[in-house]
Amino acid sequence: MTPSNTPRPPRARAVVFDLYGTLLDVTRAVDPARAVLGARADRLGELWRRKQLELSWLRSLMRAHRDFAAITEDALGWAMATVGVEDAALARALRDAFERLPAFPDAAATLDALRAAGLHLAVLSNGTPAMLETSLATAGLRDRFDLVLSVEPAGIFKPAPEVYRLATAALERPAAEIAFVSANAWDAHGAAWNGFLAIRVDRTGQPEDPLPGAPAHRIASLAELPRILGA
Ligand code: LAC
Repeated sequence: MTPSNTPRPPRARAVVFDLYGTLLDVTRAVDPARAVLGARADRLGELWRRKQLELSWLRSLMRAHRDFAAITEDALGWAMATVGVEDAALARALRDAFERLPAFPDAAATLDALRAAGLHLAVLSNGTPAMLETSLATAGLRDRFDLVLSVEPAGIFKPAPEVYRLATAALERPAAEIAFVSANAWDAHGAAWNGFLAIRVDRTGQPEDPLPGAPAHRIASLAELPRILGA
């Protein structure tokens, strides 16, 4: 087959972004604990995030949904108990910090470049609708999105196929015409497995997750997106 006969993959007309860890820096959620816990704050942050995701996967398997705000709080309680900290005021400050995370420095300019190229932009996140609105507004990104989609109408978390179908339904396009950007490797695989042009953001040089669904691209920074998407 000559190159001119090779079917070209459809060009992405819309871009869906994961939120926590992809556009917003989840590692900053433990900032309020730094003064109190010092170096233990990072361990608390890792345990909190890992347990938050674990609870989302387990509850999805158990068909025992509870929204992401509640799961985030459950995970925080578990993580604080694990590091041996009992402090209700700190717990409140950490919960608030999770809803007011800063955007990664390359997020706003990248979104602007993609919008300027005529791409439709959406968020698809585990967060509740209220969390997503607060988080995006605080980070100064809300106005850059045409659509903000929470998993809540599906009543299950990523990487369940029902969740990714929320994006194709809302954007009224087949998955093959939608780029899906996530720094959560398992989410990029979930999107690829469901037919999206998945782009994995890997800021720290981690190995690929041994999961089905192959992300089409792996990038180290959001700033690489306009080039990849021909914007
Ligand atoms: C989200 C999780 C994966 O934003 O961080 O959906």
